[in-house]
Amino acid sequence: MITIKQLHPLFAAEVVGLDLSRAVSDSDFQTIEDAFRHQSVLVFRNQQIDDDQQITFSERFGELETTKVGTVGAGSKLVILSNMNEDGVVVPPTDKQVLNNRANRLWHADSSFKAMPAKASMLSARVIPSKGGDTEFISMRAVYAALPEDLKKAAENKVVIHDYAYSRSKIDPNLVTDEERAAVPPVRQAMVIDHGPELGKSLYLGAHAARVEGMGEAEGRALIDELMAFATQPRFAYTHKWQPHDLLLWDNRSVVHRATPFESSTEKRLMVRTTIAGDVPTLAAAA
Ligand code: OGA
Ligand code: MN
Repeated sequence: MITIKQLHPLFAAEVVGLDLSRAVSDSDFQTIEDAFRHQSVLVFRNQQIDDDQQITFSERFGELETTKVGTVGAGSKLVILSNMNEDGVVVPPTDKQVLNNRANRLWHADSSFKAMPAKASMLSARVIPSKGGDTEFISMRAVYAALPEDLKKAAENKVVIHDYAYSRSKIDPNLVTDEERAAVPPVRQAMVIDHGPELGKSLYLGAHAARVEGMGEAEGRALIDELMAFATQPRFAYTHKWQPHDLLLWDNRSVVHRATPFESSTEKRLMVRTTIAGDVPTLAAAA
């Protein structure tokens, strides 16, 4: 029997009583899926799983993305977030893998730069630092519901260009290679996603949001910044303080998230992500 424990007044819950080293029953999975739909972020504590077990559990939620070129884990179903090399030695802060991890400190939705953006991400804490390295989440559904009318109006029917090269250029202008640029060209996304009458709407923005269609670059970015400033108020945020073997699942269409700093030149952090591919575009096919 599993139970669901609320972690924040607006969203995020812990699933208590699950053991992923055993098969998950259909009825338990149904409970988890329902909780996921409503809570957007689920925490499973103390899951000592390996990569294959993580893939198996992730695949119950849908097909997994294959990791893009230029990211550790490219070509596989895993994204490896680590500040260590293969021998477990901490790498210099100028290494591409560390710079890529640093980009995660900007609020974002995973894979919003893909034409069919990710539905969910699952992140497993394998090695965590003694201090810092938390992950923060914002409920973009709660944000939309609380948005002042003028901002709701401004966001309505807007199309946003999401661009991986744009978000990475904020970290280092040379971080993205030509090969990566070619693999993930800019895409169009709705600024507002409608999840139906029960769940309402969410703002769909984050670090990859580069421009607003039909607006000048500065004007579009000012609107994105204003919406993100409203969204990232502490009252909409859940901060996850990691314990070893925590496993998190989040809904990339309903939350944005970011990593927080830690002493990455002395401490070690290793997280393994699987990404559940999306099956609905954010823009209606006719749009
Ligand atoms: C991710 C991510 C944040 C973190 O895995 O997609 O953004 O704290 N991680 O590592
Ligand atoms: Mn991420």
